[in-house]
Amino acid sequence: MNKNFYITTPIYYPSARPHMGHAYSSIVSDVIARFKRLDGYNVEFLTGTDEHGLKIQRAAEEKGIEPKKFCDEISKTFRNLSKILNLSNTDFIRTTEDRHIKSVQNLWKILEEKGEIYLSKYSGWYSVSDEAFYSEDEIKEENGINISISSGSKVEWVEEESYFFKLSKWEDRLIKFYEENPKFILPKSRRNEVINFVKSGLKDLSVSRKSFSWGIKVPNNKDHIIYVWLDALTNYLSALNYPDLNNTKYENFWPADVHMIGKDILRFHAIYWPAFLLAADLQPPKRVYGHGWILSGEEKMSKSKGNILDPLEIVDKYGLDPLRYYLLKEVSFGNDGSITQEKLEDCINSDLANNYGNLCQRVISFNEKNCSLLIPEKNKFVKEDLIILNKIADRAENLRSNIDNQELSLYTNFIVDCLFDANKYFNDQEPWKKKSDIKRLNTIVYVSLEIIRKISILLNPIIPDTSLKVLKIFNIKQKDLLFESIKNHESLKPNDKIKKIDILFKKVEKND
Ligand code: ME8
Ligand code: MG
Repeated sequence: MNKNFYITTPIYYPSARPHMGHAYSSIVSDVIARFKRLDGYNVEFLTGTDEHGLKIQRAAEEKGIEPKKFCDEISKTFRNLSKILNLSNTDFIRTTEDRHIKSVQNLWKILEEKGEIYLSKYSGWYSVSDEAFYSEDEIKEENGINISISSGSKVEWVEEESYFFKLSKWEDRLIKFYEENPKFILPKSRRNEVINFVKSGLKDLSVSRKSFSWGIKVPNNKDHIIYVWLDALTNYLSALNYPDLNNTKYENFWPADVHMIGKDILRFHAIYWPAFLLAADLQPPKRVYGHGWILSGEEKMSKSKGNILDPLEIVDKYGLDPLRYYLLKEVSFGNDGSITQEKLEDCINSDLANNYGNLCQRVISFNEKNCSLLIPEKNKFVKEDLIILNKIADRAENLRSNIDNQELSLYTNFIVDCLFDANKYFNDQEPWKKKSDIKRLNTIVYVSLEIIRKISILLNPIIPDTSLKVLKIFNIKQKDLLFESIKNHESLKPNDKIKKIDILFKKVEKND
């Protein structure tokens, strides 16, 4: 079985500091990467910054800084964010790196050699904010300004000599590809949008610009730079040492298992990208997942709208794991979802402090008083014990498939459900009333500890630090964690010492 797994986030524009939307894409990708590692996979997890194009050039000009210098600064804040969010990325790519420039120019040459690119003239609408071309029927006028209907961003008229990619030629081949790979685009609703768009007819795509200079030069024509999206998408290959097709990274990890992106950039990933790859005789990725937007009120949270929640401030105030957990729990994955500090605080108090934190505290302190901080000797499991133990064990295959289909809400909701059951089990079994039946008391404690171990493994991809704190009670280290072990009811060894535990989550004081 192929035990390699490659997942990517979008590479973000360093035109401004990172915001919650970026944090969101990165965190959900990290949850998947971490789960696959727990399940024994060799995971390559890529993120980075997308540094060329007019948008960046203009942002740099506004600050009066050279574009490269400007990118160096802001790219650092994205790299830093990866650390703050505890991302387990194995690489961080910048499109201004040599390895990437070489890779893009190579892909260009291949497309040109194969007759997929020709020189002509572009005249049409362009949005610098989206770095995208729009046709007449995709724009409208609002207050005397022309804007894109889909993104709402301003468009300007562009007329210049340009190279074109023969996108129209790939229309039927793409439709066939979507049909043969029904899960290439998820969620399903987005797949339909894409298919309808392709069926309505594709025009050839302008893939070079002449009127500005901040980009990768077209090989053999230094007057042109390569369109920033052809440049950016290729990052996913550059990180695998493309154009060397015989290196182990490329062999192990291409085609990518998942490109995790927001729905705003679906067209680039689900249409242009597979078309470029098919044209170059390379395999398209296996999955493009277009998640929904984090909203602020009713609106998309975005730099250009200026309504962003700063992930750094939130982490500073509440800690990282509460934010990671909250994003997974609150947003029904695939759909848009609005987030507020208020609801984050409720989530910390109820789910994290009351359910998970309290379960761990109660069981450990009961153990301390009655079992001297040792794993007790268990007796035969009774029906109630097996119900809760099996509930988790029997779900293993489903949980794997949840992650493989990016059903992150199903995965998370199952954990919430287990936490509820675990607290209920401890209440209902009333071990404090079993002092005369020490064998039963011990078994209840044993089962409760096993449940804490299993749930902590399930939580590990979402809240790595806190779950590990709990697993350390049992002396379990991150590198020894195995998803498969949620099936084992007797992994804890009687008479092994267990450790006491500090408060996991501080409740947020609410003044209402
Ligand atoms: O588009 N909610 O970069 P970008 C959820 N450089 N996710 C959001 C979000 C929100 N409100 N706002 C942003 C680019 N995102 C290109 C990508 S990839 C080859 C090149 C996330 O800085 C979401 O993943 O505008 C979205 O697709 C991405 O950030 C856009 O980031
Ligand atoms: Mg954007």
